[in-house]
Amino acid sequence: AGPSSLEGVRVLLTAGPTREPVDPVRFLGNRSSGRMGYALAESLADLGARVVLVSGPTALSMPRVHERIGVETALEMHAAVMSRVADCDLFVATAAVADYRPERPADGKIKKSAEGLTLRLVRNPDILSEVAALDPAPFTVGFAAETERVADYALGKLRDKRLDMIAANLVGGERGGFERDENALSVFWPEGSRDLPMMSKTRLAAELAALIAERYRERHAA
Ligand code: C5P
Repeated sequence: AGPSSLEGVRVLLTAGPTREPVDPVRFLGNRSSGRMGYALAESLADLGARVVLVSGPTALSMPRVHERIGVETALEMHAAVMSRVADCDLFVATAAVADYRPERPADGKIKKSAEGLTLRLVRNPDILSEVAALDPAPFTVGFAAETERVADYALGKLRDKRLDMIAANLVGGERGGFERDENALSVFWPEGSRDLPMMSKTRLAAELAALIAERYRERHAA
């Protein structure tokens, strides 16, 4: 196997947004389309990996992967990942997981009677941190979508979450990020970094997959 082959490597990858129920008809969500994650899942599969995708709700069709597990909430994504993580070598967290969920979703549809409404939110588990803290842990790759100081925050997360790699991008601007066809990434690992310039999400996914494979191979050669 060459430096960028993932032949025989078992990948678990999260993608898309999560939806956190407010009542039976409403949820809190986010702008993740899942496109970067699905493209990366396919690029990793193209390198020979057996990819299991845990996906929040997206409008995307079934990608060329071994298996797709559909979930809706962060808690469901957490459960799906934890039940599969022992059987993976490489964990890639591209999902835009909600940091908070409504403490107790209403049993019935909330009516607009009062002038204001307060929702009490509680923290969701950080799936990526939990996976990275396992012993043994798979090789872990995280994402950081930031509106400013991208490198600072990404390096902080690499260290704090004890990741093997992190791919960071600037969101909320004119180009790249959520709901766009193209993106640019700065990728960091403990010993180095590489900038992948603005390009289509499919090309970017192929370049990132090759870089992940290179770092993964280097780790396992040691
Ligand atoms: O700390 P932050 O949420 O910015 O970290 C982003 C990274 O952590 C992404 O890789 C994301 O998929 C992952 N994450 C997660 N579970 C959460 C929150 C984030 O796996 N609850």
